[in-house]
Formats: sequence, structure tokens, C-alpha cells
Amino acid sequence: MSNGREQWGTRLGFILAASGSAVGIGNIWKYPHMAGQNGGAAFTLVYLICIALVGLPIIVGEFVLGRKTQLSPVGAYDQIAPGSFWKWVGFLGVASAFVILSFYGVVGGWILKYTFASITGGFEALVDDPEGAGTMFNGIITSTWEPIFWQVIFMAFCIWVIVNGVKGGIEKWSRIMMPLIIVILVVLAIRGLTLPNGKEGLVFLFKPRFADLSASAIVLALGHAFFTLSLGMGTMITYGSYLDKKQSLIGSAIWVILLDTAIAILAGIAIFTTVFAMGADPAEGPGLIFVVLPTVFPQLAGGTIWASLFFILLFMAALTSAISILEVVTAYFIDQKGWDRGRATIIFGSVITVVGVFCSLSLGGGINLSAFLNMTFFDFMDYLSSKYMLPIGGMFMAIFILYRWGLPEFLIELETGMDGYKVNHWVVRILLSISAAVVGFIILNEIVDKIIGRSISDILFSASG
Ligand code: PFF
Repeated sequence: MSNGREQWGTRLGFILAASGSAVGIGNIWKYPHMAGQNGGAAFTLVYLICIALVGLPIIVGEFVLGRKTQLSPVGAYDQIAPGSFWKWVGFLGVASAFVILSFYGVVGGWILKYTFASITGGFEALVDDPEGAGTMFNGIITSTWEPIFWQVIFMAFCIWVIVNGVKGGIEKWSRIMMPLIIVILVVLAIRGLTLPNGKEGLVFLFKPRFADLSASAIVLALGHAFFTLSLGMGTMITYGSYLDKKQSLIGSAIWVILLDTAIAILAGIAIFTTVFAMGADPAEGPGLIFVVLPTVFPQLAGGTIWASLFFILLFMAALTSAISILEVVTAYFIDQKGWDRGRATIIFGSVITVVGVFCSLSLGGGINLSAFLNMTFFDFMDYLSSKYMLPIGGMFMAIFILYRWGLPEFLIELETGMDGYKVNHWVVRILLSISAAVVGFIILNEIVDKIIGRSISDILFSASG
């Protein structure tokens, strides 16, 4: 590009960076325990349908919008619909970045702490002591300074990668970390599968238990499709804005989705085979990786190595996602305010870290800004972003493409780089409409649930079944 905008070095680099954003805590922590608690393969099936039906159109839409405008979300909407209210959808994305990264950075800090603890053999004493592991985890996250210390280090890594730019920071580190993540996960999955009784974990994960699949689990799968693919806040618009016109965006989107899904499933295999082999509780829920795994790994031969590999993997996955969130904020200040990269990243990375400190303090450190909502500030930020901000951002983007930008213009950009291949406009229209409608339904469902205490899906499904 002649405008001096930074660009990805190669197509592979872009695909690894975008899948690095997608693959994160959502795949390795959230997906396995959600599947474990909500019907195993039945949940996976619904999640896959959501990814194909909603995830694919929205990710392609974000790539197209970014590549067309060569701008991050606020500028992208404003370039196509100048002076209109649409740029507020872009601002919503920038705001979501502050909200998500504040709590994501805290979890990143816990992961760093566990990485350090595993490397130094800190789990040895926890063999067969789930209570001890629970006490350790609670002790860490509820104390005042320790989690903040680790969160600040995690955020410093994140700021450092982003200061180094698109090619020299994001792409370089994604090219190193993504292959490592895949290799480590495959090794851990094989290790789990070859343990005695490990295969029971597969049955748990892959045998559909439709009875465990509630209506709210279906809504959960849909929301998770957004979170896991990093959609709805302009991350993929921003990453798409560093592309030239040479590649097929549909092809790249399919790669990102396949990698994200494969890694979530591999993580599920690695975790549940190990958990079953060691007789731990698979339905532990969110504590699965921080409470169950530290008691399980030391029982294995070479346990310290397996545990360290697992937490290093998790650290890398969290980092490649966190940087993509920070890049949305940095790119906004570069594109719209003319700041330089270093200044924008350091200032706003620090502001987000401070907001994150309040997330951490709300878990036991004595300051809870959302106490009046009966919720920790940490949970509030998670709830606000995954349940409202991301789906709303995604829904408005689909509506924007259909009704403001217009399909003919959208299709011209989409078909650029596809070697003359034509995309049927009805297929695009129907898929984008379904995405907007489905997401509109999730949000309405949440709101009705908040007001009358029962969701529309619960009412509909319990009436029919
Ligand atoms: N996709 C990331 C994960 O699964 O952990 C989380 C995430 C990253 C959400 C970037 C949103 C985002 F913009």
C-alpha cells in the first residue's frame, strides 16, 4: 500500500495472527468446561453449527470491511458512511477492548503465576489434594498484591509486542507461538490418550448427552462462538485493515475457523483424557484447569514437564489473543488521532491495566466497583462484554453491510483476490440476515431473562418439551 500503512508480511502470517487472536483462554479454558457441563458432543454440535452459521459470515464481513477501508473500526465505518452514527459501532468496539482486556489481563496474570509455579515444581504438594489446590487458587486470586503483580507483567508483555508493530510484533510472535501451541497440544493430547482410562475422557467429551443440553446451553454456545472467534469488537476489522488485495478472504476466514475449532477440541481431549485417567472430577467447571489439573499433573511420570508445557501453552494462547485486543485501541489512536504507535500503546495499555487492577481487587482485595449490582467487577466486565457488547457489535455490522454499505459494494471487495470467482449474493444476504437475527434474539433473550427472570428460549423450549 502506498499510504504507508503497516501490512502483514505474508498470507500465512496473517492467518496465524488472526487465529492467534481467536485461539485463547476461550478455547483452552472455557470450551472444555462448557462442553463438559452441557452435554459433551451435544454442546459441541450446537457450537459448530453456530460457528458455521453466524461465525463465518461475521468474520468474513469484518475482514472485508477492514481490507476495503484500510482502517480500524471507527475510521472504517466513518469512511463508508461519513458523518453518520455508524461510527459509534466502531466506538463500541474500542470500548469493548477496554472492557475485555481488563479482565483478560487478570486471567493472563493467573496463568503466568501458574506457569511459574509449574516450572518450579510448585504442584508437587498438591497430589490427590483437590481441597489444597482449591485453597491455593482462591488464595491467589483473592489476595491484593500477588495477582496484580502477575497481571502487570502479563500486560507488559502485551504492550511490548504491540509497540513492535504489525509485522515486527504481532506477526512475528504469532508465527512463533501458534505452531508451538499446536505442537504442545498434540503432544499433551497423545499423552492423555495413552494413559490408562484416558479414552474414557473421549467418551465424556464426544458422546452426545442431549438430556444435558438445556436451552440456555444453546444460547451459551452462540455467545461463545463470538468470544472464541474474537468477533463483534472490530479485532478482525483491524487485522483485515493490514491486508493487501491479493488473497481470498473467505479462504483465510475458513482457515482461522478450522484452526480455532481444532484447537478447542484438542484442548478438550488433552484435558479430559488426563482428568479421567487420574480419576478427577470432569464436571468441576471453571476451576477445571486451575484446581483440577495441578492435582492431576504431579501424578504423571514427568509431571512437572507436562504441567509446565500446559501452562506455557496457555500463556502463549492468552498472549496472542490479548495483543489483538490491545491492537484495536492502538490502531484507533494511530488512525483517528494521528498518534504514534509507541505512545498510544503504552498510554492505553497502562490505562487498561489500571482498570484490570479493579477487576482483580473485586475478587477479594476489598474494592468492588460494581458491588451495587451484587456482582464482582471482574464478572461484570466479562458479562457486559460477552453477553452484550460483542453480540451487539456483530449484529450492527451485519445490518451495516446489508442496509448501509450495500451488498453490491461489499461483494466487489469480497471477490477481490478470488481469481474471478463470483459469490452468490443471495447466499451472502441470507447468511448475514440469519446472523443478525440470531444475535438479535440472543440479546433480547438476555434482556427478557433479566427483566422477568426467565429467558424466551426457556419458555419456548419448556413449552414444547
Ligand atoms: N478469542 C479469544 C479467546 O477465545 O480467548 C478472546 C477474544 C480475543 C475476544 C479478542 C475478543 C477479542 F476481540
